[in-house]
Amino acid sequence: MTAFPEGFLDGVGGMVTGWAWLPADPARRLRVEVRFAPAEGDFHGGDHPEVALPVEAVAGQPRADLAATGKGDGCYGFTVPVPALFAGREHRVNVRLPDFPEARLLGTPRTAIVVLAPVILRTLEPNREDVDRLCGFLAEAVRLNGGTAATAVPDAAKIHGWAAASDRCWLVAERRGRIVGQCRVGPEWPVEPGTAALALGIELHPDVRGFGLGRELMMAAYRWAAGRCARMELAVLPHNARALRLYRALGYADLGPVPFPGTGEIHRRMAIPLPPYRPFGGVTLLV
Ligand SMILES: CC(C)(COP(=O)(O)OP(=O)(O)OC[C@H]1O[C@@H](n2cnc3c(N)ncnc32)[C@H](O)[C@@H]1OP(=O)(O)O)[C@@H](O)C(=O)NCCC(=O)NCCS
Repeated sequence: MTAFPEGFLDGVGGMVTGWAWLPADPARRLRVEVRFAPAEGDFHGGDHPEVALPVEAVAGQPRADLAATGKGDGCYGFTVPVPALFAGREHRVNVRLPDFPEARLLGTPRTAIVVLAPVILRTLEPNREDVDRLCGFLAEAVRLNGGTAATAVPDAAKIHGWAAASDRCWLVAERRGRIVGQCRVGPEWPVEPGTAALALGIELHPDVRGFGLGRELMMAAYRWAAGRCARMELAVLPHNARALRLYRALGYADLGPVPFPGTGEIHRRMAIPLPPYRPFGGVTLLV
């Protein structure tokens, strides 16, 4: 059993939710300190103090999902309402464990976004600066989930080659000068070599999920791929409810189970037929 705490910041917005526990001492309920701070560029000119506002809580709420995955009695959840000072405003959220000052909760820090727009959807530029920015986004996404960027992020040369090739594309979503989402289309698993299909993979930063941006990126990828291949395919884990719902709504058909090469983890393989050429010239979303 590890002597270090484990946990995750699940959600920000109206309520901050997450969990934390100490596997070596499952009966203990950990103290958490949720820190709220103004988002960059917010509160300018107002009379709000530019300081972080800490709110303490105890991670002791029952969570069926934690119990179901063998985490003690599952009573390690916490919920903290957003203080009035930050309600309805974009703000940063971090979580600390006062009794474990060295520990970092996975999924932290986050930004609670109220209004997403404007967001620009465009293809990745095959230059060093843009490729480095995408690498930074991919590494941050891995770090938030507790993975190691060195093994999970494609190297810059591969990304550059992808951006420069004409038979594949890498789309990015940009908000306030930062990449917040990516969607790549190309000849990869689960597409079988030699077929007239391209594979699609998509990921958004957790802060921008649930605003409809995934749908817009998928539609941009669809327009790019139309006329270039007969259909697009993707693979999705069966428990990824949000992604499945999006893919079904867009018209992807379920082609059955497919194991991930190497690990054998079972995914659902899905596909959508493509119409002839539809121009993709980049989009600015104003939603
Ligand atoms: C999957 C993902 C790309 C979807 O993008 P998104 O912008 O968050 O999704 P959208 O806002 O467009 O919503 C898609 C649908 O899911 C629904 N949805 C939102 N939150 C949901 C949730 N927690 N559970 C189930 N469905 C949910 C939305 O209501 C919407 O359906 P609707 O149009 O019928 O209302 C994005 O959430 C993501 O990057 N997730 C993590 C990485 C990932 O799973 N990638 C896909 C791997 S195959």
